Amino acid sequence: MRIGIIGLGMMGRTHYEAYQEIDGAQVVAVADQDPKRASGDLSGTGGNVLQGGLTHLPMDRIKGTTNFLDLINMSDVEIVDVCVPTTQHVELATAALKAGKHVLCEKPLARTSADAEKIASAARSAKGFFMPAMCMRFWPQWAWIKQAVAEKRYGAVRAATFRRVASMPAGWYRDGKISGGAALDLHIHDTDFVQYLFGMPKAVSSRGYAKTSGEIDHIATQFIYDDVPLVTAEGSWCLGDGYGFTMQCNVNFENATADFDLAREQPLRLSENGRTEPIDCGPGFGYAAELRYFVDCVKKGQKPTVVTGDDAVRSIKIVEAEVQSTRSGQMVRI
Ligand SMILES: NC(=O)c1ccc[n+]([C@@H]2O[C@H](COP(=O)([O-])OP(=O)(O)OC[C@H]3O[C@@H](n4cnc5c(N)ncnc54)[C@H](O)[C@@H]3O)[C@@H](O)[C@H]2O)c1
Repeated sequence: MRIGIIGLGMMGRTHYEAYQEIDGAQVVAVADQDPKRASGDLSGTGGNVLQGGLTHLPMDRIKGTTNFLDLINMSDVEIVDVCVPTTQHVELATAALKAGKHVLCEKPLARTSADAEKIASAARSAKGFFMPAMCMRFWPQWAWIKQAVAEKRYGAVRAATFRRVASMPAGWYRDGKISGGAALDLHIHDTDFVQYLFGMPKAVSSRGYAKTSGEIDHIATQFIYDDVPLVTAEGSWCLGDGYGFTMQCNVNFENATADFDLAREQPLRLSENGRTEPIDCGPGFGYAAELRYFVDCVKKGQKPTVVTGDDAVRSIKIVEAEVQSTRSGQMVRI
């Protein structure tokens, strides 16, 4: 499969590196409005999970352009991978879909659910396949948890708690009009996973506050379900400068507890029958698994089902309800 990446910042670089692990996937084109990056110079791109070692792309094998439309119109590009700041997803993803390409688009799908719906609607009538890059659904240990919940392997879930907190990121993330603040940009990973595990909540009750971005930068939500007594998630960019990044979850079944902490060598542990054991879900993060799944779907001509455009729209709608609840202090029905 021949891939073109638009946006060569932190996520564009992460995706480029992940494609190197996928048999039959080849990045043939890149586009970035910054001429330095379009020429393959990736120095200065950081990240929460992967700090990045790659600084230069092999441009003898890759076409570089500063105009994303050039990349979208290249006849040898089959998959367009959109990794630009959030407010630009709607224009780029719909243009690539209209050009008949298969399209993967970074999360959050758009800055608002209305814009996300425009992409989901374009995807419904497109010739190519579409997938929003909700990477937690593909994170090896989280995929294990999803399977265990779906099979009721340890009984029903009684409680699920998620925590994803960090220091304030730099650049456009600090402008809430573009990023949506931590509530949309960061916390959506957990909101989306809650939706993946339990479906749409009946209501949300959130607390939090705005800081640097002008949007909600620290949020804690209780997701209300009839059949799961306690589901909560906290997301933040308000931790002290230098804190770094924490990603944790704990799913408490009737008969066992699954506990994930990215900081551990073996991030997932299961406590059951008086013992706590690490669960080995294999090496790697969710990015390569996510991209491999999409490339395989395109190769086989099978529409992606693990996550759809409509799922991504719903996750943004839940976050919008959480923000409304934070601002009003009231529970918001969905
Ligand atoms: N899945 C995840 O875990 C994860 C993590 C971080 C970021 N993201 C998402 O990925 C997206 C990109 O974030 P990032 O951190 O890589 O941003 P970034 O600022 O590091 O990189 C964005 C790049 O896009 C380029 N760009 C901007 N507009 C462009 C345009 N119109 N045409 C061509 N290039 C353009 C910029 O020059 C820059 O190089 C965001 O939506 C973000 O929320 C996802």
